[in-house]
Amino acid sequence: MPAFSATAPGKTILFGEHAVVYNRAAIAAPVEQVRAKVYITPNPPGKPGNLKIDAPDIALDCDFDTLPKTNAIRSIIENAGVEFNIEHFPSAHIRIKSTIPIAAGLGSGAAISVALIRALASFLGRQIPDERISALAYEAEKIHHGTPSGIDNTVVTYAQPIYFCKGTAKTKKTNVELLLVGAPISLVVADSGVASPTVQAVAGVRQRWQENPHLYDKIFDNIDEIVDLARRTIESGKARDLGPLMSENQVQLQAIEVSNRQLDYLIQAAMSAGAQGAKLSGAGCGGNLIALATPDTAPGISQALLEAGAVNTIITTIQPTNKGGVL
Ligand code: MEV
Repeated sequence: MPAFSATAPGKTILFGEHAVVYNRAAIAAPVEQVRAKVYITPNPPGKPGNLKIDAPDIALDCDFDTLPKTNAIRSIIENAGVEFNIEHFPSAHIRIKSTIPIAAGLGSGAAISVALIRALASFLGRQIPDERISALAYEAEKIHHGTPSGIDNTVVTYAQPIYFCKGTAKTKKTNVELLLVGAPISLVVADSGVASPTVQAVAGVRQRWQENPHLYDKIFDNIDEIVDLARRTIESGKARDLGPLMSENQVQLQAIEVSNRQLDYLIQAAMSAGAQGAKLSGAGCGGNLIALATPDTAPGISQALLEAGAVNTIITTIQPTNKGGVL
């Protein structure tokens, strides 16, 4: 029987990670070179609700019923059942594959969630709007991240560069805008090889913020200003000018203690190889960094990063868009 399938990209945070959890703005873009893919093959002889899950990249091979209540994949399937108003999914084999490194700041959890929700909708022959896909993926992000801002599930769902600001208790509504990109932005994404679960990095920042709220709020405000400048720079197509803003964002991330020696060393290597700016991307404490390049300098920067100890690099370009606006 043919499989129903769906896919979703990885993501990178260009500016504003961590501060975005505290209601400041951030900018993110999809990374199409790495993806999660979900295939659902119906198993008509099986009993309704009998789902076999096979996800070799996260060492999962089991029946749905045996997954703990706190498992993110279980929560997505249960929430999707509620969304589609069905008690049991027809029996099926769900295969999850992903080329997105785990615990590396590239949104692997969000991409698996989004691809799984889309594949379940297609399996049932249902339509589901992007807004609902993102909302369901957000519920799973709470399991992955503890107190997520919602930026990862949003950028992965829409698969376009976004400007994102979570609603405050007062404003309530999250502001999500498609970002107008005036000119291509060349990036080298490099994996430091240090696995760093987002939940831990986010919890660490929260603890330090609670201990020193004035200092941390000031740093989050600084990051918010950088994001504002970066947004205008991206819109006006002055990609080169993003370099110093990235490096300044990295200084602020060092101040909240989410960079580490390996990231700082790799960032220095990228700068020495001609990057116009560089910073960690995502939760930090390991994971990936991004370096601003041009199409000419990107291969050399990538090579320098690998020689300095990065375990993998991706050369990617954020393409210009002709439409921005609130989603
Ligand atoms: C993770 O990609 C970005 C963080 O800001 C966490 C979040 O926004 O949920 C570190």
